[in-house]
Amino acid sequence: MFKEIQLDAPSLGEIEKKYLCQAIDSGFISSVGPFIPEFERKMADYLGVKGAAALQSGTAAIYMALYELGLGPGDEVIVPALTFAATVNPVLYAGATPVIVDVDIKTWNIDPARVKEAVTGRTKAIVPAHLYGNPCHMGEIMDIAREHGLHVIEDATESLGATVDGKHTGSFGNFGCFSFNGNKLITTGGGGMVVGNDIERIEHIRYLANQSKDKDRPGFHSEMGFNFRMTNIEAALGLAQFEQIDMFLDKKKRFKGIYQEKLGGLSCVSFQGQYDNAVESGWLTCIEIEKNIDIPDLMHTLKNKGVPTRRIFVPVNEMPYLKKYAGHCVHAAEIYGRGLCLPGSVLNEVKDMEETALMIRKVLGG
Ligand SMILES: Cc1ncc(COP(=O)(O)O)c(C=O)c1O
Repeated sequence: MFKEIQLDAPSLGEIEKKYLCQAIDSGFISSVGPFIPEFERKMADYLGVKGAAALQSGTAAIYMALYELGLGPGDEVIVPALTFAATVNPVLYAGATPVIVDVDIKTWNIDPARVKEAVTGRTKAIVPAHLYGNPCHMGEIMDIAREHGLHVIEDATESLGATVDGKHTGSFGNFGCFSFNGNKLITTGGGGMVVGNDIERIEHIRYLANQSKDKDRPGFHSEMGFNFRMTNIEAALGLAQFEQIDMFLDKKKRFKGIYQEKLGGLSCVSFQGQYDNAVESGWLTCIEIEKNIDIPDLMHTLKNKGVPTRRIFVPVNEMPYLKKYAGHCVHAAEIYGRGLCLPGSVLNEVKDMEETALMIRKVLGG
């Protein structure tokens, strides 16, 4: 039918090769090298925050943010039920207790009303995740945090480029955490970043992540460190990708527009919704499909027609090791049962996406 459609594969080409060759030729391939601070500075400027520390993964970014804020045993951290497990696992690494709350049925993001109900005397932080690039209700979340003196660590791993009232996701809370995994808006192969406005804390995270090496006393470590630092090779890829960020965002937006145009009229389809003043990044376009259509069957049919899709995350409260931290999360279960992520890789061409959307429409009986 059409060129092979990609779900979320990255676009890598001449710019990436150029930067990678520069890193190799310079000899700086590891955790020291000029591309790392340059990538950090460019990201911080783009996001409108004072500082950024480039790390090995988004998971490490969330963990370092929790660690830096001193969260540990006895502390509760409120997290959403519908997200990738890596939003929650770092809370366990820190020895703190996740409190899993349900999501809003329209936006699929953590429901501020449920957050409010979950606050106790032990609550120390909220970790909202901007699911599939769609911003959470940051106004209400920040209000709750202010009222109760809580930290906010934004899981912005999927939402680079998304904004609320013109302000970037990841720049509202104490820290914003990004991922540059292979399927993200921009990739470093594998990598992450923690950003924020408390420059001392960001510098401290950078120090911790680099084994807490004392710069005045070689071989000495004044506190326990971690090996979570991004390498210069990864930052080379990151810079190359960053140069194309506007083009990537533009393409994602066009793809979503195509899906809305071709599938919007179908009574069996609804789209993940946005809060007012929120502009999603369009990382992945996700839809909900009416109850009598079996999602695995639909995915199988679409796959046979050359259209790869992905199921919505299994709610984290369904994981055996996380069950005990959650109450009823009916919305998360409902969205998982009916939701589907559509192809959104920037490798796809607009005309192929039009055919893809038409194919999905046909399969859905439209
Ligand atoms: C919502 C969410 N949180 C956290 C992560 C973790 O990021 P990483 O894979 O870079 O560790 C991911 C990415 O895969 C994610 O989608």
